[in-house]
Amino acid sequence: MTKPATPLVEVVDAARWFDVSPPWLERMISRRPRVDLRAVDGVTFTIRKGETLALVGESGCGKSTLARLLVGLYGLTRGDIRFDGRSLTSVHGAQAQALRRRRQMIFQDPYASLNPRWRVGRIIAEPLNALADMTSAQKRERVDALLRQVGLDPADRTRYPHQFSGGQRQRISIARALAARPEFLVCDEPTSALDVSVQAQVLNLMKDLQRELGLTYLFISHNLAVVHHVADRVGVMYLGRIVELAPRDSLFARPLHPYTRMLLSAIPDIRGGGHARTPVAGEVPNPLNPPPGCTFHPRCPHARDVCRQEAPAFLPAKGDAEVACHGVAQGWPDVMSPTAESAGRPVVPIAVEATP
Ligand SMILES: Nc1ncnc2c1ncn2[C@@H]1O[C@H](COP(=O)(O)OP(=O)(O)OP(=O)(O)O)[C@@H](O)[C@H]1O
Ligand SMILES: [Mg+2]
Repeated sequence: MTKPATPLVEVVDAARWFDVSPPWLERMISRRPRVDLRAVDGVTFTIRKGETLALVGESGCGKSTLARLLVGLYGLTRGDIRFDGRSLTSVHGAQAQALRRRRQMIFQDPYASLNPRWRVGRIIAEPLNALADMTSAQKRERVDALLRQVGLDPADRTRYPHQFSGGQRQRISIARALAARPEFLVCDEPTSALDVSVQAQVLNLMKDLQRELGLTYLFISHNLAVVHHVADRVGVMYLGRIVELAPRDSLFARPLHPYTRMLLSAIPDIRGGGHARTPVAGEVPNPLNPPPGCTFHPRCPHARDVCRQEAPAFLPAKGDAEVACHGVAQGWPDVMSPTAESAGRPVVPIAVEATP
């Protein structure tokens, strides 16, 4: 696989906090301060043109919030996101709209994201309305081409979303996302609602489209076998931060962060009857009251005093990885041991079928 190095997306110390304070009056009476939930709290990484960067992490760690920041559905609380060299915080009006067109999102539940009262042709054509100088005939032609591109029939244009299967509906979502010829697709668990064989077909379709159209993907999934199948690089999130980001093969063969090892050791083992080998230990802390220092320290088998006191910096490590861990940065023998936790365990491959 070629690895073009030019960054398409540059995320610099991005943060998104949500005000989850009680209603204003109640706050005034009880004199309680404003409460912020730090869903994303200082992430820095780049996505290269043409690559697939996967994001993994337990529920609530901020993956969808980060996804929404990347396509402009949420604004930043702090930091910056640059797309093709342009800061998203410094563009407005028509320029911002043009940049928005180049970034599209595919959601987990295709049914919820497709208007049930619209015919498929209208759903797919909607993003084209924002593009000036397209005649109705040209729009119709484009919709037909998109339907073919995602493996559906142009005649499907006149049907409604409920008349399709889950996999077909996700193809409709993909066609709509592609309508305005974007370069960057943010896919938030796009195949989690599909059964295994349909999942493989949709994943293969996405890979084919990436090759044909030169697309760049941010791909969110809970399923590490899916991530292994699609990703060039993988970012691991924990409580609003990226704790490890590495090329796929080195992350799966030599995970460095103790949290990455914990996630990998929980992958079901097909030879063991499909059960997780080692369940992910402990609970994710309350994001409204995160632990001091390294937020992973209460669950980390290697934690020392420094972990309880200082947040680790996100630093380059072995194998092109970047890791936020005091033990990795300082080379603690118990953390660096190649036999620590799950290092090197194989991943169960997903069934891959030819795209119809
Ligand atoms: N609009 C919002 N207002 C307040 N809190 C929010 C909002 N959106 C998300 N959160 C909180 O931010 C945190 C991160 O949520 P997010 O949806 O990004 O997690 P996630 O990693 O996508 O989880 P999952 O894997 O379950 O989809 C959670 O604690 C969530 O409750
Ligand atoms: Mg989510």
